[in-house]
Amino acid sequence: MDRYAVFGHPIAHSKSPLIHSWFAEQTGQSLSYEAILAPQDGFAESWAEFVRTGGRGGNVTVPFKEQAFALAGQLSARAKQAGAVNTLYIDSAGVLCGDNTDGLGLVADLQRLAAPLINASVLVLGAGGAARGVVGPLLDSGVSKVHIANRTASKAEQIAALFQHHVSASGYGNIPHEPWHLVINATSSGLSAERPPLDEAHLAATQLAYDMLYGKEPTAFLAWCAEHQIVCADGLGMLVGQAAEAFAIWRGVKPQVEPVLKRLRQELG
Ligand code: ATR
Repeated sequence: MDRYAVFGHPIAHSKSPLIHSWFAEQTGQSLSYEAILAPQDGFAESWAEFVRTGGRGGNVTVPFKEQAFALAGQLSARAKQAGAVNTLYIDSAGVLCGDNTDGLGLVADLQRLAAPLINASVLVLGAGGAARGVVGPLLDSGVSKVHIANRTASKAEQIAALFQHHVSASGYGNIPHEPWHLVINATSSGLSAERPPLDEAHLAATQLAYDMLYGKEPTAFLAWCAEHQIVCADGLGMLVGQAAEAFAIWRGVKPQVEPVLKRLRQELG
């Protein structure tokens, strides 16, 4: 049976084995998918051992996306733009290839939610790896403008500098007072029950607030947006969406996201 895995540290919480087993069931593919806890400084060894024992492809999560980027012999344009790899596979010539499906997963979820994308102005909060990976795919989806706001403004400016046009950056206090149709929280603030210090005035034209994190309870950011009567969505659909794109890369068949997302939402309780 073809073997796949997700690598992370920690990894016990990962929903990827469940998601991929449901994708396999849905598409009639025969494969196994496990979660591998790699040592913090030992991703390359862990991957090599996996391949030696029949591994065909993998997903990579925190904190190994940059290490996977460095390890891959060939990188997709998306991975280069993101500076990170979340999907690895070995091509027919035996080359280790790195791709990044996070941004595609986000855009697919936003399309599923009928979010404003075409000619929309999008405010992205945060300038870590999560934010960097989604700016390119957002622009490709028809968005006309992206503004990145971050506590540390220089990090937002560094990401904006990767793009020629349509991307600006600032700290939270200097966000342009313009309509932001879609606001995406790409910070990790939700992990500590906090929210980015966004002034509510920026939500005046917002049709959807999206948090890339997910959980049983809404993040502090989504709870705050809901208080301001904004339609909200968490990142569970992005998680399933990025997995579907990875599955398609490995298996040549794209699974349906909706039924798996429904099942996973029930599982979360
Ligand atoms: P990831 O890979 O998830 O993006 P990261 O690279 O550590 O993780 O980046 C975390 C992001 O969340 C950063 O943009 C960080 O802001 P700073 O660069 O200013 O540190 C942001 N962040 C984390 N906690 C936050 C909080 N409580 N409020 C606002 N932003 C926060």
